[in-house]
Amino acid sequence: MSERMKRRTGSVLVLLVLLLTVVTGCGLFDSSLKEEEEVESLSPEENGDLLVVGFSQLGSESVWRTAHTNSIQQALSEKNGYFLIYSNGRQKQENQIKALRGFISQRVDYIILSPVTENGWDTVLQEAKEAGIPVIIIDRKVNVSDKSLYRTWIGTDATREGEAAGKWLEDYLKRKRKQYDDINIVVLQGTVDSTAEIGRSTGFLQIASRYGNWHILEQRTADFTMAKGKEVMKSFLQRYPDIDVVVSQNDDMTFGALEAIKEAGLTVGERGDMVVISFDAVKDALRLVQDGTINVDVECNPNQGEYVREIIDKLEAGETVEKENIVEEEVFTKDTLPENLDERTY
Ligand code: AHR
Repeated sequence: MSERMKRRTGSVLVLLVLLLTVVTGCGLFDSSLKEEEEVESLSPEENGDLLVVGFSQLGSESVWRTAHTNSIQQALSEKNGYFLIYSNGRQKQENQIKALRGFISQRVDYIILSPVTENGWDTVLQEAKEAGIPVIIIDRKVNVSDKSLYRTWIGTDATREGEAAGKWLEDYLKRKRKQYDDINIVVLQGTVDSTAEIGRSTGFLQIASRYGNWHILEQRTADFTMAKGKEVMKSFLQRYPDIDVVVSQNDDMTFGALEAIKEAGLTVGERGDMVVISFDAVKDALRLVQDGTINVDVECNPNQGEYVREIIDKLEAGETVEKENIVEEEVFTKDTLPENLDERTY
């Protein structure tokens, strides 16, 4: 069967499953899919050339995540030749595995997986491989024994991000002539076993281990959400009366932590009680860098959609693609903010 015929068959299957979803009301995929619209637009005669892509996003836990999802949806739009099936895993690996199995049974042309954690993907990725469906991993990584289970990974270098945070603190303490002081640090970690948590923790600890006077009082997960960020920070403040530095592995947890710090009557920033180091660099957080609330924000670039599109184009053209593709990112302080914050896309 030709590639084109395979795709048409795939499209018909997608149509049938979506029709069943609408008729029975038992949705396999997120309700934000607007099934009816997609059923209407998926006429195999008219849209037989659309590439059908199943996208398993890990959740909607952060502002960053929304930007990441938007970037994929915009790049893989119908006008660009794609029929995208979006599934929200709601931060649970079992939901993502279920979604992947759904994509496999629909025989989509490509699967995009943005995995919540690194481990536990071997079996389902083997199933995709056996079905001949290329899998593209984005954002976080998967830890599998056989690297041929996916075609390529596109994301950011989380270890380098953690190191950048550590190096910034190193320079800052020197500038403030505090390099020999005892520095008490707490770390709000992201989802345990996610690449962003592993990399940022490892990178920061690599720098911290050079200094006997940097004391990591505690590292605890707050799952990359604002609500948990506040809860964990509150508990840190009750436990440790003398925190000098808060390292928060994403902006949402930082927003929550800042609320807890304010409610405890403490201050942050250059002249405050605590230094705040954050990750992601979403627009609202950069405004807080601008007003001196957050000292530094290490960027994690969510605009990965165009990279994914390029990769698929190459695979379609039979070209080889790199196994790892790292997107560019920067470190923002008050002095290095982008010129026009309002024009920032996230
Ligand atoms: O994997 C990227 C991380 O996940 C981002 O830092 C965070 O905001 C998101 O939830």
